Amino acid sequence: MPEHETAILRIGHRPERDQRVTTHVGLTARALGARGMYLAASDKGVVQSIADVVERWGGEFFCEDNVKWRSCIKEWKANGGTVVHLTMYGLNLPDVIEEIRPQQKILVIVGAEKVPGEIYGLADYNVAVTGQPHSEISSLALFLDHLARGENLALDFPGAQIKIIPSKAGKQTVGL
Ligand SMILES: C[S@@+](CC[C@H](N)C(=O)[O-])C[C@H]1O[C@@H](n2cnc3c(N)ncnc32)[C@H](O)[C@@H]1O
Repeated sequence: MPEHETAILRIGHRPERDQRVTTHVGLTARALGARGMYLAASDKGVVQSIADVVERWGGEFFCEDNVKWRSCIKEWKANGGTVVHLTMYGLNLPDVIEEIRPQQKILVIVGAEKVPGEIYGLADYNVAVTGQPHSEISSLALFLDHLARGENLALDFPGAQIKIIPSKAGKQTVGL
């Protein structure tokens, strides 16, 4: 079981161009132990793609679309959670991760295009994964990995229909 209860809030999603990246944000979050993703847009395609992976590969990851980001952040905080916004303009990850790690419940916000300025003030932490522009997928992966000190790389996903047997060469799977 992951040590933290994490969820992702994906903002700025444009259904006509961000479907693949947003789906990968969700899949990355799931693989690294997050509980689910709130999507601040309507996109049943993303919700369905993630649900298909969960059905086949197990676990209980949720994906909820049509989420209002202000209320999502407000509710998360009202329930005692911490809000981390990933942005290249924030404080660099190694300088803040020790302070963030003791928090149990963490909502990680990632953007797509330009993020509304209000988010910077609502977040408890604005965190940079380097001060260089890259992507929401890479920044999320590195953040979750540092948060868990690399311990979420071989999690168990109960209820899977298929499982990979790690192999030096070739592909080995078992149907369950
Ligand atoms: C492709 S970037 C677009 C950023 C946009 N140009 C802006 O100024 O907000 C999409 C998302 O990736 C994440 N991201 C990109 N580079 C990052 C970095 N160096 N550190 C943390 N997050 C980053 C942020 O969450 C950002 O909202």
